[in-house]
Amino acid sequence: MVDQVAYWNGPTAGRWVQEQTRLDRMLRPFGEAALDSAAITPREAVLDVGCGCGDTLLALADRAGAHGRVVGIDPSAPMLARAKERCANLPTVSVIEGDASSTSLGPGSFDVVFSRFGVMFFPDPERAFQHLRGALRADGRLSFVCWRRLAENPWASVPFDAVVEVLGRPEPPPPDAPGPFSFGDPARVQRILGAAGFRDVTLQRFEAKVAFGASPSLDEAAQELAKLGPVARLLEDRDAAAVSRAIAAIRAVIPPYASAAGGVALPGAAWLVTARNAS
Ligand SMILES: C[S@@+](CC[C@H](N)C(=O)[O-])C[C@H]1O[C@@H](n2cnc3c(N)ncnc32)[C@H](O)[C@@H]1O
Repeated sequence: MVDQVAYWNGPTAGRWVQEQTRLDRMLRPFGEAALDSAAITPREAVLDVGCGCGDTLLALADRAGAHGRVVGIDPSAPMLARAKERCANLPTVSVIEGDASSTSLGPGSFDVVFSRFGVMFFPDPERAFQHLRGALRADGRLSFVCWRRLAENPWASVPFDAVVEVLGRPEPPPPDAPGPFSFGDPARVQRILGAAGFRDVTLQRFEAKVAFGASPSLDEAAQELAKLGPVARLLEDRDAAAVSRAIAAIRAVIPPYASAAGGVALPGAAWLVTARNAS
C-alpha cells in the first residue's frame, strides 16, 4: 500500500503548491458547500483535517471570527508551508504538521472537525475517525466533502479512460485502498463513521463543474487535466514520451466539454457528509 504521508510529501505536494491558485478555484464550490453544511458560528473552535495549502483555513477563520480558533493539520510539509504563508496575518489560525489519525489533538477541544477532500487517505479510517471524534466536544460536529465514485466524476474518469487506452490499464488498487475516490460508496462512509462512534450521519449529493484551462485551443486544459486525479498518479513514473501521448489522448476527448469562457468544464460529484459526536 502507498505510504500516504510520504506520498503527500513527494512530487504531488510540489504540484499542489505550484498549482494552488488554480486548484483552489476548481475546488472552492465544493468547499463552500461543505462550509455551509458545517454551519460554523462565531467563537467556535474548528479543526481542518488535511488543510493542504490553507484555502479553507482562511474561509474557516472568517466564519469563526476574531474570537474563534482554527487549527489545520496535515502531514505535507510543503503544502503546510504555503498554508502558513497565507495565514501569517491571522492570529486565530495555527497549523500542525502531522497525521490526523494519530497526532495528539487534545481531548474535547474542538466544536467542529472539518475537511475539504482531506479525509479519504487514512489507511485505517475507522481508527482515524475514532481519534478525530476524541478531539470533539461532547456535542461536537463533523462536516466534510469527499468525492463520489470515479465513474460519477467525469473530470477524473474522462481523462483517465483516454489515457489507459494508450498507456494500458494499471493494476486496480485493492478494494477500499486510501485514495481520492475511496469514500464513493455511501454505505461504506456510514459504516466507518458509525463504527467510529458518530451519530446522525447524513450524506447529501453535491454536483458542480470542475474547470480546467482558459485558452480556446484546449491544449492548456489537456495539460492541466493530466496533473490531477488518477491520471496524475498513473503518469507519476512515466517518461516524457508517455506523458506526451497521454496529453494528446486527453486533448482528443475533451472538445465536448469546451466552455464558452475558454478551457473545459467537466462534471464533478461529491458527498457532503455531516455527523455528530454522541459521547
Ligand atoms: C486532495 S488534498 C486536499 C487539500 C485541501 N484540503 C484542499 O482542499 O485544497 C488532500 C490533503 O490531505 C492531506 N492528508 C493526507 N493524509 C492525511 C492524514 N493522514 N492526516 C491529515 N491530512 C492528510 C494531504 O497532505 C493533502 O493536503
